[in-house]
Amino acid sequence: MSQIKVVINGILGRMGQQTANAVVIEDALELLGGADMKAASDHLVTPVNNRSVPLYTDIGALMKNCRADVLVDFTKAEATMASARLALKSGTHIVVGTTGLSEADLNEIDELAKANNKGAVVAANFAIGAVVLMHLAKIAAKHFDNAEIIELHHDKKLDAPSGTALATARAMLKSRGRPFTYPPTEKETLKGTRGGQTEGISIHSVRLPGLVASQEVIFGALGQTLSLRHDTINRESFMPGVVLAIKEVVTKRGLIYGLDALLNLGE
Ligand SMILES: NC(=O)c1ccc[n+]([C@@H]2O[C@H](COP(=O)([O-])OP(=O)(O)OC[C@H]3O[C@@H](n4cnc5c(N)ncnc54)[C@H](O)[C@@H]3O)[C@@H](O)[C@H]2O)c1
Repeated sequence: MSQIKVVINGILGRMGQQTANAVVIEDALELLGGADMKAASDHLVTPVNNRSVPLYTDIGALMKNCRADVLVDFTKAEATMASARLALKSGTHIVVGTTGLSEADLNEIDELAKANNKGAVVAANFAIGAVVLMHLAKIAAKHFDNAEIIELHHDKKLDAPSGTALATARAMLKSRGRPFTYPPTEKETLKGTRGGQTEGISIHSVRLPGLVASQEVIFGALGQTLSLRHDTINRESFMPGVVLAIKEVVTKRGLIYGLDALLNLGE
């Protein structure tokens, strides 16, 4: 089978660099080039395999010069739609990991992908373990009345709680169909100790240097607890999911939202 030809937008960023390395070590994939507004040279040498590929400052030049099967985008929300439009209209499938796209953006990507007979995978979390944890939490939510979430991240994280923790809580509530039981604390000696609360689920955010990203969901019932925990050790954790998305998107048409849709998790 011929290799899937890949280009990367945002190739000089943290995720772009990881993706470039992940693509060059995959036999089934070939890295054709990349774009990044920070580009100060016309080529990039990948840290892994020392592969030299052309580098452009804008997505237009990249798409014009490299006839790719798949464009991977890890930039920022304001930049992604321009690259998605350009890629899909020029007959290239897309894999988008950039976060912060709106509902309207997702609808437009779906329409454009269908109109051009191409696939578009958009996923806010490519860590397979995190996606599986969310799936398991949805199952457990139907069988336990009490649940709390502890999410642990590095000290530079801007927001709290994490988007993944909120999404997990929402998914658990949707699956359960009613709020969880929240045991009230008569006297909270130190304000905030019980965490933030959404429909009976307490969410606790830990911020420490040395951490990357972890999440634990603890369910409680009579005489038992069930703990689900996922730890991200480094950004390589996202790469199996990104590589899977690149391989799968070429077989799809329209928008596939979320990595779970590619993992055959069932309901
Ligand atoms: N889906 C996931 O699993 C996942 C995981 C981690 C990060 N992310 C998301 O991926 C995105 C990138 O994260 P990062 O940590 O790599 O950020 P980063 O800042 O390290 O990299 C972004 C890169 O995009 C480039 N860029 C920005 N605008 C551009 C444009 N218009 N044209 C070309 N290049 C442009 C920047 O120069 C930079 O090199 C963020 O939205 C982040 O939230 C997603």
